[in-house]
Amino acid sequence: MKATQIRMSDYPGAGSVRDIWRTTHDPIRPVEDGEALVRLDHISVDPGMRGWITNKRSYMPPVKPAGVMRAFGVGEVIESRAEGLAVGDQVTGFTGVQTHGVFKEENLRKIGLPGVPPHLFLSGLGMTGYTGYFGMTDIGQPKDGETVVVSAASGAVGSIAAQAAKLAGAHVIGIAGGPDKCSYLTDELGLDGAIDYKRDDVEAALHANCTNGIDLYFDNVGGDILSAVLNQMNYQGRIVVCGGISQYDDFAGATGPANFMTVVTHSLTMRGFTMRDYMHRVPEALGWLVPAWKDGRIKFREHILEGVENFPDAFDMIFEGKNHGKLLLKVS
Ligand SMILES: NC(=O)c1ccc[n+]([C@@H]2O[C@H](COP(=O)([O-])OP(=O)(O)OC[C@H]3O[C@@H](n4cnc5c(N)ncnc54)[C@H](OP(=O)(O)O)[C@@H]3O)[C@@H](O)[C@H]2O)c1
Repeated sequence: MKATQIRMSDYPGAGSVRDIWRTTHDPIRPVEDGEALVRLDHISVDPGMRGWITNKRSYMPPVKPAGVMRAFGVGEVIESRAEGLAVGDQVTGFTGVQTHGVFKEENLRKIGLPGVPPHLFLSGLGMTGYTGYFGMTDIGQPKDGETVVVSAASGAVGSIAAQAAKLAGAHVIGIAGGPDKCSYLTDELGLDGAIDYKRDDVEAALHANCTNGIDLYFDNVGGDILSAVLNQMNYQGRIVVCGGISQYDDFAGATGPANFMTVVTHSLTMRGFTMRDYMHRVPEALGWLVPAWKDGRIKFREHILEGVENFPDAFDMIFEGKNHGKLLLKVS
């Protein structure tokens, strides 16, 4: 039996990555003891993939040239020689961009809640949901009445982070690209203000929306937006560095903001993190996210494309802001 895989032919260097993807149709290898064969249903497409295809020291090794592109996925076990996995189990893990794969049991996590579609464990109830939750509540720790700014706020991570801050009683301003995403922030998610960084003067708009200055910034984008926020941070403010998507075109060569010394002059705390730091606390995130989503206190969107062969288009969409919500590929 053959499967379809998307492979990275080589590291792309700076700029466009369009040419590095190859589609293959290789046979599925036999299942060995302690392993299971999974038929993938949905694959997650993430900005962090730009780092995974960059040959530089990071929080995990880069994808190997000619290897299947790394990705989170969800799917169903269709053959098992693993004690803890049965045919029909829904599982998630680093499955790669492919239609089927054979995985060791320890690399899969069983998922499934009655009435909850499994692909939600790749979006609001998955890694991006956990990232927004832990980044905001554990690192940012927003307080009642504080002013919180979130960039890429209508996206998968940002929307959860922004709503967590709102539920903590903060005055929350979201930054996003375009009028539709901005009205989603205020009208659907109930944020206190939205800034369209593609149209507005971000510095002036921050000044108008954050009349008491900024106490906490949840940064997903870095670059010019981080610079504009730094100029308006309050004394002893906190910055949660979750990502820097505006710099990912040249992931290995990204530079910091010119006004970085504001961290010193305003006694700021700036702390980065990855979900690797929080994997042991996933049940805690689910314990918060699932009831909050079920009773409508938080909302999230998914943006689903069909077919693993469309991965190259999906990958580009993320960096062009053409997705609205967690970007997923549905495996046909
Ligand atoms: N630390 C962690 O463990 C962790 C885990 C997951 C994700 N992240 C980071 O979190 C951030 C958001 O990821 P996500 O999965 O939630 O994706 P997402 O927000 O759903 O999609 C990415 C969005 O980023 C925005 N964007 C793209 N290029 C931009 C640019 N040059 N300047 C400003 N905004 C830009 C676009 O929205 P607009 O239309 O609004 O521009 C795009 O839709 C990324 O930086 C990602 O690397 C970190």
